[in-house]
Amino acid sequence: MKLTVIGCGYLGATHAACMAELGHDVVGLDTDTDKVHLLNSGRAPFFERDLDDLLAKHTASGRLKFTASYAEAAAHGDLHFIGVGTPQRAGENAYDLGHLFGAVRRLAPRLHGPAVVAVKSTVPVGTAPRIAEILHEFAPAGEKVEVAWNPEFLRESSAVEDTLRPDRLVFGFNTEQSWAEAVLRQCFAKTIEYGTPTIVTDWATAELAKASANSFLATKISFINAMAEVCETSGADVHQLADILGHDARIGRSGMRPGLGFGGGCLPKDIRGFMARAGELGADQALTFLREVDAINNRRRERIVGLAREQLGGNVMGKRIAVWGAAFKPDTDDVRDSPALTVAQNLHELGATVTVTDPKALDNARKTHPRLDYTDDPVAAVQDAVLLLHLTEWPQYGHVDPRRLATRAASPTVIDGRGTLDAARWREAGWTVRALGRP
Ligand code: UDX
Repeated sequence: MKLTVIGCGYLGATHAACMAELGHDVVGLDTDTDKVHLLNSGRAPFFERDLDDLLAKHTASGRLKFTASYAEAAAHGDLHFIGVGTPQRAGENAYDLGHLFGAVRRLAPRLHGPAVVAVKSTVPVGTAPRIAEILHEFAPAGEKVEVAWNPEFLRESSAVEDTLRPDRLVFGFNTEQSWAEAVLRQCFAKTIEYGTPTIVTDWATAELAKASANSFLATKISFINAMAEVCETSGADVHQLADILGHDARIGRSGMRPGLGFGGGCLPKDIRGFMARAGELGADQALTFLREVDAINNRRRERIVGLAREQLGGNVMGKRIAVWGAAFKPDTDDVRDSPALTVAQNLHELGATVTVTDPKALDNARKTHPRLDYTDDPVAAVQDAVLLLHLTEWPQYGHVDPRRLATRAASPTVIDGRGTLDAARWREAGWTVRALGRP
């Protein structure tokens, strides 16, 4: 099929490349011409496992190209996915839908024949009818343009795998006999054949799918982190507790790793946007628990800063602290709402000299947190440090020899914010080890 993907960030660029991999002829559109240029050379403007390979393969095969021209995109085919960003509005909990409505307004006047506009961006429930209204008013094809809601559940760091083999497909339509359904079923035929559960529903349910899934995931993380707080005051071990709980199939261990909590471009923003929307709908009471989920999450960051101060005698002023990790989670270079960088920045503001290291995210971290010191070498980061904070659990940090590292530190003390370092091995190597949620 000939299709387009509008917006080529983490979501859109991955979707475009994966649609080409499924055999489609794809045009990706982004208004950032530097990004378009880079994508056309077969490289992603961010780090995502396997994505560069797919981009290189399909820009070479001719099945994938990128453009900044809406005219070119609109003329390419009759299925248009929209995957532009919907960030949190500055100073508010609600979503900023400016990019989304902007994209729809620019696409609409160029739709001269029947078309499906399938939206993947995360939005407040009730956005689909507003998009349909704009399309029907401004597209020459009028009501022949159908809006489909097709939420995306991919995780950064496994985005390609999640897109090619998703847990489920969700299609939302506002009519029962929808031409758009046939179009989407054809587009995802290989995925459906593979056995992927496919749920066809109305617009509102499809819109809610993403907000409620992310709320559940955030709640699960904050639940176990609330248990970590109790463990810290009672001498229990939250990691063992999570194992014990996880054996109950109704609870499950996955998505319940205790630690510094969630960050990134989705979970924090989505629970806040969901609360804001529920308030507008008069259902705010239903989601007040998410305020607590957010608060528990933010307390983890404060707790690490508190532990660092405690460990350094109540004052971090002038002390040298090493931070392992800048990305919001391993295997990505994304630093949006990164717990690690929030902690590093707070310690810097308290007067510490903070050196941050990360295998992939340093360029992005330098842009958002220019006052911190950076090195790409985790051993060099620890040179003369009185404290090491392990804040993003990159697997390579588990392979650093703590004995060798101890000779570089001014004082071999580590706080493990993710609970993945082998504490016994580090203690044997002479380190004082503190961890969130552990005695
Ligand atoms: C999330 C959802 O998982 C995905 O389905 C949705 O489409 C977008 O939002 P993502 O933000 O890429 O994806 O990352 P995810 O792997 O869910 O992790 C989010 C944050 O939670 C990270 O900061 C991670 O470190 C943290 N996390 C995750 C935990 O602290 N504990 C866990 O058990 C899982």
